[in-house]
Amino acid sequence: MPAFPSTFTWGVATSAYQIEGGATADGRGPSIWDTFTHTPGKITDASTGDVACDHYHRYAEDVDIIASLNVDSYRFSIAWPRVQPDGSGAWNEAGFDFYSRLLDKLAEKNIAAHVTLYHWDLPQALEDKGGWLNRDTAAHFAVYAAEVARRFGNRVATIATHNEPWCTANLGYGTGQFAPGMADPAAAVSASHHLLLSHGLAMQAMRKLNVSAKLGIVLNQWTATPATDSAADIKAAEVEWARSVAWFMDPIFKGSYPELALANNDCSLLSIHENDFNDIRQDIDFLGVNYYFRAFVSTETPPRQPEFKLGKTDMGWEIYPQGLTELLVKLHAEYTLPPVYITENGMAVADQLQDGANGRQVKDQPRIDYLKMHLAALHDAMQAGVDVQGYFYWSLLDNFEWNSGYLRRFGLIYVDYDTQQRTLKDSAHWYRNFIKEQ
Ligand code: NOJ
Repeated sequence: MPAFPSTFTWGVATSAYQIEGGATADGRGPSIWDTFTHTPGKITDASTGDVACDHYHRYAEDVDIIASLNVDSYRFSIAWPRVQPDGSGAWNEAGFDFYSRLLDKLAEKNIAAHVTLYHWDLPQALEDKGGWLNRDTAAHFAVYAAEVARRFGNRVATIATHNEPWCTANLGYGTGQFAPGMADPAAAVSASHHLLLSHGLAMQAMRKLNVSAKLGIVLNQWTATPATDSAADIKAAEVEWARSVAWFMDPIFKGSYPELALANNDCSLLSIHENDFNDIRQDIDFLGVNYYFRAFVSTETPPRQPEFKLGKTDMGWEIYPQGLTELLVKLHAEYTLPPVYITENGMAVADQLQDGANGRQVKDQPRIDYLKMHLAALHDAMQAGVDVQGYFYWSLLDNFEWNSGYLRRFGLIYVDYDTQQRTLKDSAHWYRNFIKEQ
């Protein structure tokens, strides 16, 4: 394995709704994901995040596990409805206390905290007023962001406004696979604009506080490979890049939407106010990139599929590590990037818990191979000049994988949901040793 710089950040990642449970504990308000999971037919195994990994009550044990992995950083999200149950108005001190205890425990173990403000759990009260289709939600988000930064901004290493706003907009409002479950492509475009606006307003509100935390955003990104060298496929791949990656990058880095995407999106509900791009185009201290797969773009019917030369994950996603190199090199060529963190990368495997010689064991060699290949691809991008400063494996624990429920396991740690027992998988041991040898 290649060696990484000694200053490189090694971490693991989670998000609030996927692990915390404690859905009604200590004054937490309902979020759109509580509503969505309690609506029959939305989640494959009909499960909810009501209990999840019970991290709300087991956070201390979980931080001990994090520390045992030799990582120096932990990425997690704050549940907005836990700290502000209605998304506006009163703060919930008990909610803030939970995150304060978590930060204390992380500090005790010398683990740097990387906080995400919005990992998809919008307070239901704001959804009742239109959610991300309502411009006012952006203003409420900025108030929430500033309050978190005021309280925790000198206790955490980074604060990301959003996690994967592409998913919030397109899966939440465009296809309906995610909460709040609306299926209207024009709504997705409108939601994405308000998400970007909320990012910009939150950045400005947090900047005023002069906190030590670095401020940025986390985007899910992929390269778009044309299936063939036909002019139609090449053009379609360019459109895909414009609609997914550039749609979020251009407003932040250039202050506009890409023409190619404007021409190919349903912009009938898009309302851009005069000052919006000035608000959105704020300097960010870091860019978080979540990488899982490439887009393989075919205009044929039925569409051509990639060959899956390296296989696929339990999500059905192609394993394509060189896409991480290609993506980072392309981003570096097209934008003046701040330092980059790979804030997520990981693999779902149909893991089996076994009785081994030293107790319980999970032999997840495919995940170890996945890690090795993606870390090598990341190293290649760094050799090519991209300033990457850290890598976070998704995820620390098996957890609630959104509309797939508990059927998909991404963790380095196996969770037995009946007993809440945690077991380090072979990949956790591998990651721990790999970091130690760096
Ligand atoms: C990205 C999301 O941020 C995370 O919540 C999800 O579990 C992983 N991808 C895997 O799908």
